[in-house]
Amino acid sequence: MPLVTTKEMFKKAYEGGYAVGAFNVNNMEIIQGITEAAKENNAPVILQVSAGARKYANHTYLTKLVEAAAIETGVPIALHLDHGDSFELCKSCIDGGFTSVMIDGSHHSYEENIELTKKVVEYAHERGVVVEGELGRLAGIEDDVNVSDEDASYTRPEEVVDFVTRTGVDSLAIAIGTSHGAYKFKPGQKPQLRFDILEEIEKQLPNFPIVLHGASSVNQEFVKMINEFGGAMPDAIGIPEEMLRQAARSAVCKINIDSDLRLAMTGSVRKYMAENPSHFDPRQYLSVARTAIKDLVSHKITNVLGCNGKA
Ligand code: G3H
Ligand code: 13P
Ligand code: ZN
Repeated sequence: MPLVTTKEMFKKAYEGGYAVGAFNVNNMEIIQGITEAAKENNAPVILQVSAGARKYANHTYLTKLVEAAAIETGVPIALHLDHGDSFELCKSCIDGGFTSVMIDGSHHSYEENIELTKKVVEYAHERGVVVEGELGRLAGIEDDVNVSDEDASYTRPEEVVDFVTRTGVDSLAIAIGTSHGAYKFKPGQKPQLRFDILEEIEKQLPNFPIVLHGASSVNQEFVKMINEFGGAMPDAIGIPEEMLRQAARSAVCKINIDSDLRLAMTGSVRKYMAENPSHFDPRQYLSVARTAIKDLVSHKITNVLGCNGKA
């Protein structure tokens, strides 16, 4: 099956009350692990490439590996640019076979964000590519930050209709308290997301797909594995799975996961290396990493996102 856009995926996800997983990819084993899990669970999947991934693995290598995964698995796969920060980067991915791009203008002023996003949308739509925009800024929430500063980083529901209408984006990433990386909350801090803001956004934008970034759960099993075999990642804390299930049932149609894949891969490789000190064939430890990713993605698909059987 050729690569697809997220249009149909999101329509079905919105109506069906589930979310599609968007997983970051950087090499062949990661792509294989994710897409084998999608195939086994008959699930649609979004493979997303950051500017860093593109620099690391090269645009053509990643594109061709993703195309190979689509041929091998037969499930619907969208190839998406994660956190595009310029028109040029988005253009290069649109011209180079991506079916979806994110233009992340959230670090600009509101009007500049609109201007940049609109320019990307015009270029993308003429070529059949869909666009994700972002309003609000993701960050860790600090206990001692005063409420108005804290609120300033959340998406403002009163802006979403204007932003979506003026830019023409196909989906919108919002900030409701998730953050990137493995340290999302302080030790002892109760993980919380602003579902009240999400609800207000849903009311403002009926039938519109919402995207949740920074949605790794930071599985403690992998953190323990890393720490047991020579690593040092104390206090790594993620988003509880129950909150992600709640988000998946709402207008959130795309849930972004990267850190969880990194932890699964690193934990399993550390363990393998420690237990097999004489092994030096990369295929041995990379197989272990690929299987860890596949198991993790299977778990996400069936127990968190609810997109199993929806391919
Ligand atoms: O949101 C960012 C993703 O986790 C990608 O991270 O830029 O290190 O590839 P990266
Ligand atoms: P995590 O760091 O929580 O996995 O978030 C990934 C992400 O949002 C990629 O865009
Ligand atoms: Zn992100």
